[in-house]
Amino acid sequence: NKEDILKGKKIIVTAGGTIEAIDPVRYIGNRSSGKMGIAIAQEAAKCGAEVSLLVGNITAALPTDPHIKIYQTKSAREMLAKLQEIFPQNDGLVMAAAVADYHPKEYVDHKIKKNQASDNLTIELEENPDILKTIAQTKRSDQIVVGFAAETNDLLENAHRKLEKKHADFIVANDVSKNVFGSDEDQVTILSKNRENDVWPLMTKKKVAEKIVQLIADHLTK
Ligand code: C5P
Repeated sequence: NKEDILKGKKIIVTAGGTIEAIDPVRYIGNRSSGKMGIAIAQEAAKCGAEVSLLVGNITAALPTDPHIKIYQTKSAREMLAKLQEIFPQNDGLVMAAAVADYHPKEYVDHKIKKNQASDNLTIELEENPDILKTIAQTKRSDQIVVGFAAETNDLLENAHRKLEKKHADFIVANDVSKNVFGSDEDQVTILSKNRENDVWPLMTKKKVAEKIVQLIADHLTK
């Protein structure tokens, strides 16, 4: 069973949205609650894994399980740096975090004042690194990487492209046009290279987490 396989295994989970600072008091964020990632971290720990939980901005409560080590990583670049440091010592990575695609090109080290001369303010954005892709490229055959794809349209087509492009073993695809943010339930489809799409019915995020951890355990036995 999954407890036997996961006992002593080291799993990283990322959760929540990244925070991309504009100045000391402002940032660009998103609506991710962190619930899905936290549920996965809790389930993996419950099955005996040593979990590293990297959190950005979350509204859900942080777990207190002694087998979950929490790292606060704010920006996408910070999250990537931490993962580059710890991924080689781990058996798996679940990228449930909602990573911002861009960050403000220039961080202003003081609170930006209202511009008296104009009604407009422009903030130039620069692309963030693709964390999943960067890390999965370094993956050994004994490691597993799971990504997420949240889409409002052409869900499976886009999720399939992500599976290929990002070198993930599995992509958990969910349709975010149906208000999943902050919800306790989710309906997902699991994509992987050598298997048919697996459409899971609507269930609690806790149940989705249990099934994702089972998937990881099955993969790690191979
Ligand atoms: O490209 P998209 O953001 O839709 O991909 C979603 C997946 O990629 C998620 O697993 C997310 O955590 C990850 N991601 C990432 N780095 C980014 C953007 C997304 O790791 N810059």
